Amino acid sequence: MPTDYMYVMKCSENDRYKEGKISRYGNIELSPSAGVLNYGQGLFEGLKAYRKESGGLLLFRPDQNAMRMKFGAERMCMPAPSVDQFIDAVKQITVANKRWVPPPGKGSLYIRPLLMGSGPILGLAPAPEYMFLIYASPVRNYFKEGSAPLNLYVDDEYDRASRGGAGGVKTITNYAPVSNAKGRGFSDVLYLDSMNKKYLEEVSSCNIFLVKDKVISTPATNGTILSGVTRKSIIEIARDLGYQVEERAIPVEELMYADEVFCTGTAVVVAPVGSITYKDKKVEFRTDAEALSRKLYNTLVGIQMGVIEDKFGWTVEIE
Ligand SMILES: Cc1ncc(COP(=O)(O)O)c(C=O)c1O
Repeated sequence: MPTDYMYVMKCSENDRYKEGKISRYGNIELSPSAGVLNYGQGLFEGLKAYRKESGGLLLFRPDQNAMRMKFGAERMCMPAPSVDQFIDAVKQITVANKRWVPPPGKGSLYIRPLLMGSGPILGLAPAPEYMFLIYASPVRNYFKEGSAPLNLYVDDEYDRASRGGAGGVKTITNYAPVSNAKGRGFSDVLYLDSMNKKYLEEVSSCNIFLVKDKVISTPATNGTILSGVTRKSIIEIARDLGYQVEERAIPVEELMYADEVFCTGTAVVVAPVGSITYKDKKVEFRTDAEALSRKLYNTLVGIQMGVIEDKFGWTVEIE
């Protein structure tokens, strides 16, 4: 749902962003020939603010989102705000909307930064003006099942990204063509690599991990999958807990032998996968209270909410 305020900062082509401002949340005006409307010149980010028991607000690794937006902006031919500008804007929008940050344990404030070619451009080229905008919304669980296990469907018809494309950045153009797994009773789609249709890539809005005995594996980020902040954090937490974590190419057949599968992302945090359907065959995985995904979820959420010591230095307190 909409909150009270949004943040907007503009910049001309070949210039730097200066002085953003907070305004009441509302519609924005764009030329019909804005770069983002005609050529999809746009990126988005997503991060959360949690309310601590003590009342303070915590952001989780906002520098990682800032750096990912910078990296994506380069690929999409756009100027990006600096890491400091990004973090400062995220803090401002969180404080401005602080009455919308849910109480501890009830949810979080989801913060959505956008970067777009807002200037008019008819010939195919980068836009002459850019807009960095942030809005926010209070959220509970992402999937309607809540913490119930996800049921995924392997899409062997459509690809999400190809080598040399833009799958590794959070461009808006990666998200419209998701297949309609939800309409078919699945929670989401699991994509395979476009070249061989053999290796696991990611789910439409989260990364995937397999657990076999004491080894955790996740597809390596080679430009076609998004380098998730949650993925990176879970790899570090798992290694710290003594697990071996491998980032590598994972053939889809390995799903047959996995003990456990889980997804990671800002929205889902760590979500257990109960089943995956591939070529009409359904494979099931353990999702009980002793599952590793539960332990990793509890550790990550504990850090994000400020109830477990943040020895990694990931959280940023505001107010
Ligand atoms: C395609 C895709 N993969 C993975 C992720 C997970 O990334 P993060 O953990 O940074 O939210 C997201 C969400 O941002 C995504 O859209």
